[in-house]
Amino acid sequence: MTEHSSSAAEPDLAQGVPLENVVEGGIVKGHVGGEPALLVCQAGELFAVGATCTHYGAPLADGLLAGETIRCPWHHACFSLRTGLPIRPPALDGLKRWRVERRDGQAVVCEELPDTRPPRLAAAQLPESILIIGGGAAGNAAAMTLRREATTVRSPC
Ligand code: FES
Repeated sequence: MTEHSSSAAEPDLAQGVPLENVVEGGIVKGHVGGEPALLVCQAGELFAVGATCTHYGAPLADGLLAGETIRCPWHHACFSLRTGLPIRPPALDGLKRWRVERRDGQAVVCEELPDTRPPRLAAAQLPESILIIGGGAAGNAAAMTLRREATTVRSPC
């Protein structure tokens, strides 16, 4: 077992966690079906997301909650708690999400939610061509975002 996999001591979030243990702005580490997951309460709303950063696997429980986002502690990727999508690089893939409901004084993590599709950029909003200078994380994220959200991306070479 790695330090980032779920521990037997961590709760099965599908079995429910007493609501008094899910404090505003706090993170409850646990698992859902054996997968490490986090249960978070932000502005009174409950979110359940994967516990591991999709970039290099950092434990997101050690990260920072800010509004409806969670920031990775290692390279500061930022994910939306609501959609699971990466908002800031270097992570390119989103987090798993589960539906959460309040039931009998418990926060119960239910079924996995489908992947959220990012909004498509309208062709009318895009310039005819885009040149990305630099091959670092930001340049890579720009290219991947354009591929995901725009219609056509061509490499110049
Ligand atoms: S491991 Fe999370 S941003 Fe790199």
